[in-house]
Amino acid sequence: MDDVIKGLEDVNIKWTRLTSVDGEKGILRYVGYDIEEIVDKRASAEEIQYLFLNGELPTGEELERFKEKLEEGYDLPDYVINSITGMPRSSDVVGLQMQGMSSLAATSHLGWNAESNRDLAAKVIGQMAAITSVSIRHVLGKKPELPWGSDGFSKSFLRAVFDKEPTEKQAWAMNTVNVLYMDPEVPASTSAGLVAVSTLADLYSGVVAALAAFKGPMHGGAVDQAVQQLIDIGDPENAEEWFNKNVVLGKKKLMGFGHRVYKTYDPRARILGSVADLVALTGDSARLLQVAKALEKLGISTMGTRGIYPNADFYSGLVYMGIGFPPSNGIYPALFAISRVSL
Ligand code: CMC
Repeated sequence: MDDVIKGLEDVNIKWTRLTSVDGEKGILRYVGYDIEEIVDKRASAEEIQYLFLNGELPTGEELERFKEKLEEGYDLPDYVINSITGMPRSSDVVGLQMQGMSSLAATSHLGWNAESNRDLAAKVIGQMAAITSVSIRHVLGKKPELPWGSDGFSKSFLRAVFDKEPTEKQAWAMNTVNVLYMDPEVPASTSAGLVAVSTLADLYSGVVAALAAFKGPMHGGAVDQAVQQLIDIGDPENAEEWFNKNVVLGKKKLMGFGHRVYKTYDPRARILGSVADLVALTGDSARLLQVAKALEKLGISTMGTRGIYPNADFYSGLVYMGIGFPPSNGIYPALFAISRVSL
């Protein structure tokens, strides 16, 4: 860096070399790679995590080394697990992620070290998955279970949360949503994390700061609100009346619609909509998907001319629900937060 700006004077954290968004054309690129191409090629979450940390895709050997570091993180110390399981079952899962990460921040005594942080970052991603598994299981009344296996991040995580082998389709859907949610340029949570580590605080403290900013309904919490709106409507036949009474009359915003940067269809929403088509096949998720489709038509026909289209949060909750996660205790924002820790 050529200029060091002291005291964050006039600092506006907005630009990153890692991600670029063309909001008019609906294009998202990670380090120059188009998101549609990344998803088409079925890149693994680990490959994209490596891309963000190192600025280039890994060779086979580099990927194996990265995965080993990440998998080291699955093995959480007992005191971290106990810090989560000591909390009420009614807790919010993003709050429990903060609890687990705070325990690591309290005990790591690492401070900031740019070189060793690169290896530590891989481990932190694994620890985040392990903390999230323990946290989700805790609010669902289940005993702690840590991710395991070296057949991929998404499979290891799903295996732990659900206590059984995930299907290929579940693992693919989880991997896709993980990759799509990794970075939308510089969101509030990344800014908060950067502010924390700019004081040379350790990486764990940076993650706690980022999670605090992420938790609100204007950020990660919006995923829950988008699903809750579908649950409130309940049936596709109710969609038009609900939309006219609430959105058209200006009483409520249509959650999962509109974006500061995208003024056309968010490419992540398009992909997640097609993933939801493949996983939200039965029960509540299938019915709510029909509600979402009815709302999408109403939303675009009413607000599309003003550049208000579905964003990534419109369908992501249905993907999580189709995989098998219940929409309670902030589980969906917590799943979203796993992706963001890769930055
Ligand atoms: N439903 C109804 N009206 C809307 C919506 C919406 N979803 N989004 C924007 N508008 C209207 C808004 O009421 C305002 O109208 P007016 O000019 O009459 O006051 C106009 O459009 C401009 O709105 P704005 O909030 O100033 O525009 P923005 O581009 O800064 O807003 C936004 C972006 C995301 C805050 C907003 O679209 C919104 O609140 N959406 C709903 C919440 C949501 O889905 N959040 C997830 C964001 S994406 C997350 C991610 O990328 O990871």
